[in-house]
Amino acid sequence: MESEGKMTVRLMLAVSVAVIGSLQFGYNTGVINAPQEIIESFYNETWIQRYNEEIPRATLTSLWSISVAIFSVGGMIGSFSVGLFVNRFGRRNSMLFANVLAFIAAIFMGFSKMASSFEMLIIGRLIVGLYCGLTTGFVPMYVGEVAPTSLRGALGTLHQLGVVVGILIAQIFGLNQILGNESLWPFLLSCIFIPAVIQCIALPFCPESPRFLLINRNEEDKAKSVLKKLRGTTDVSSDLQEMKEESRQMMREKKVTILELFRSPLYRQPILIAIILQLSQQLSGINAVFYYSTGIFQKAQVEQPVYATIGAGIVNTAFTVVSLFVVERAGRRTLHLIGLAGMAGCAVLMTIALVLLDTVHGMSYLSIVAIFGFVAFFEIGPGPIPWFIVAELFSQGPRPAAIAVAGLSNWTSNFIVGMGFQYVEELCGAYVFIIFIILLIIFFVFTYFKVPETRGRTFDEIASEFRHGDNQADKQPEELHLGPAEDSTV
Ligand code: GLC
Repeated sequence: MESEGKMTVRLMLAVSVAVIGSLQFGYNTGVINAPQEIIESFYNETWIQRYNEEIPRATLTSLWSISVAIFSVGGMIGSFSVGLFVNRFGRRNSMLFANVLAFIAAIFMGFSKMASSFEMLIIGRLIVGLYCGLTTGFVPMYVGEVAPTSLRGALGTLHQLGVVVGILIAQIFGLNQILGNESLWPFLLSCIFIPAVIQCIALPFCPESPRFLLINRNEEDKAKSVLKKLRGTTDVSSDLQEMKEESRQMMREKKVTILELFRSPLYRQPILIAIILQLSQQLSGINAVFYYSTGIFQKAQVEQPVYATIGAGIVNTAFTVVSLFVVERAGRRTLHLIGLAGMAGCAVLMTIALVLLDTVHGMSYLSIVAIFGFVAFFEIGPGPIPWFIVAELFSQGPRPAAIAVAGLSNWTSNFIVGMGFQYVEELCGAYVFIIFIILLIIFFVFTYFKVPETRGRTFDEIASEFRHGDNQADKQPEELHLGPAEDSTV
């Protein structure tokens, strides 16, 4: 049963306001890359003021690594705490309250220079990480729950579009001529309060998730009126029917805790899929590019590495838009497979380019092509899909716990790549991408055999498939068609 869903102004407004949170996540991911040297010299000056000597090199490196990576530590804690908020305050209000953290982080980072305190900057990064961890749970959950079945993938991809636009804005603002300079960098880090203000003003005009109202709060009338507005029609009986079915199902289950997710045979399969999909996103090596691309391009002897990095940000955004338009035609599973395979191919090209750099002419161009291709294939599937598919794989009861576990897996593997890449690169030199090639192949095989297609199916249909153990991916490997499906709804 596929509910016919159409795009309405209310729906678009709700999703656009929610993805301001995604934009914040992307911005804070990308913002720390370009102004590294300038902020490092602030650390040095502060050190001199306090101790009358230059900061030792090793101390500076450690302080900088902490400033970068503590963001992911905040992300891990935040993403794991999602379940504490969403059922108590609702999805929309959770997003609203989280902005308090964005304001506090902006104050810490924005005044760190004035207060001559790099500690304040580091605390600010931790707090903004907490905020982004919460956001990466709240936004996909809210968007998945307000979207009609037939648009869930496309709207879910808007979360990732928010992320990539955020990264791109950060890359551009970080240019020396704009905000990435000695006097303006505090504003570069603290201007996150502006989108936070916009979201605080606009969110009260957005509806609460109708699923939350009906299933968690049992407020049928409210749910109905929200649905009418979101769907732009007075007949919302099929949506209501489907939610009630899910609700009935939920009554039969006991409260789902995180432990329960792993213990119950009902959830073991989908939670394994959710975790591996998060790992496939992060261990694909994408953030090796987004954290260190300038260095990678430098090593490949690219002349203007900063602009090549911005180029990667533009390709990143363009291909997220491509994914947005094809995800309801080609399906999640197919796109994820194409993405992983393409990334592996590009990683091979990158390795060739790095190995032959000194012997064959033109290899630095090949490295640019390889990195752009790597990023493009990432956004076809492994970028957007893991974020929204978790909400699809679980019904209302286990969803918050599942999103928390998936979020923690994502942020932890993000942290590992962020911290580990530079060390592994020192060890492996030009062969560093081979690790990602091997991992990408493993994730491809897993996806091929284990990940079901969720496109066009209601939450309840997907959950009942796992209940009956008839995982579609096990039965129909021929689903792996590359063209649009005949029953396309977009
Ligand atoms: C995804 C990842 C994030 C990465 C981004 C790149 O959202 O979760 O870590 O930086 O894609 O576009």
